[in-house]
Amino acid sequence: MQTQLLQADAPGAIQTAAAILQNGGLVGIPTETVYGLAANALDGAAVAKIFAAKGRPMDNPLIVHISHFEQIYDLVREVPEAAKKLAEQFWPGPLTIILPKSARIPDEVSAGLDTVAVRFPSHPVARAVIDAAGVPLAAPSGNLSGHPSPTTAAHVMNDMDGRIEAVLDGGPCSVGVESTVVTLAEQPPRLLRPGGITLEQLRGVLGQVEMDDAVLHPLADGKRAASPGMKYKHYSPKANVIILDGSLEHYIDYVNTHAGDGVAALCYDGEDKALQVPSICYGGEEDCGEQARELFDALRELDERLHAKTVYARCPEPEGVGLAVYNRLIRAAGFEVIDVG
Ligand code: TXA
Ligand code: MG
Repeated sequence: MQTQLLQADAPGAIQTAAAILQNGGLVGIPTETVYGLAANALDGAAVAKIFAAKGRPMDNPLIVHISHFEQIYDLVREVPEAAKKLAEQFWPGPLTIILPKSARIPDEVSAGLDTVAVRFPSHPVARAVIDAAGVPLAAPSGNLSGHPSPTTAAHVMNDMDGRIEAVLDGGPCSVGVESTVVTLAEQPPRLLRPGGITLEQLRGVLGQVEMDDAVLHPLADGKRAASPGMKYKHYSPKANVIILDGSLEHYIDYVNTHAGDGVAALCYDGEDKALQVPSICYGGEEDCGEQARELFDALRELDERLHAKTVYARCPEPEGVGLAVYNRLIRAAGFEVIDVG
């Protein structure tokens, strides 16, 4: 299959993408978080192709994207007050809400669960494609399963060329990590995946919100994941990533004494000057928004440009959007953290 790269602002590009989707095909689309790999969410056969293209385990459910709030009424059994309040504050935007699903949702989307994840993205291209297709779109991140999520159209092409009909290029993503996932299918509400909307912001609207264990910790043996995606080793470059928790001074010491063939660093802006190994910077130490925007590209660069074998990473502060950065990096590191003091 030849994958077309469409510039989102070129005449007819949105219509071309919409026609592919209406015919049961797959299109890589930009959102404000990461690029998604979209199919008609109401067409089980189209959705099944997403799993094949990504090599995604069939038990990992997909998010359904809408472009008008009212579309949610068709997708879930009931819209509780809490969902309306969240939507009023954070939609359109990087928040996914889980609710009991309606009969309209194909089993391929919900992967056998009785709930569905719904998101109303703010990216104008995502909204335009959903509108033009005239159906909600199921879309996981547009990477091969296990790879870092794509934050540019080029990342999607690297992973999906030849596997899908088209990619719509709408420029780099502004948030850079996937949406916050909160479930309202149980009481109290629970954060399953941190993202651009913070736990503090959710609590500001809902009051009590619990944080799922899987946000910070590996899943205990035999325990069922509330969010199936959290149980897989994720976001991983080929390199072995190790997080060094401690001061900058101790980080620099540790990296420089462990310098050698294939060793690289993933550090904050400006810190590379003191390091005796090839390094990639992923934003300012105090700027977790920038870290979120740059992390996935940095993980890809470690493989593709530095061909790193071992990567020592600075430890993000797990607060605000930094919680999302920490959650992604600790998975990329397979939960390997060394305390360097
Ligand atoms: O920002 C995003 O959310 C991006 C863009 C494209 O919208 N999409 C995305 O999708 O990150 P994906 O499939 O890579 O991650 C969806 C996560 C997975 O961890 C999945 O297990 C979880 O949401 N999820 C989906 N439906 C669920 C459900 N019904 N119950 C629990 N978790 C669910
Ligand atoms: Mg993903």
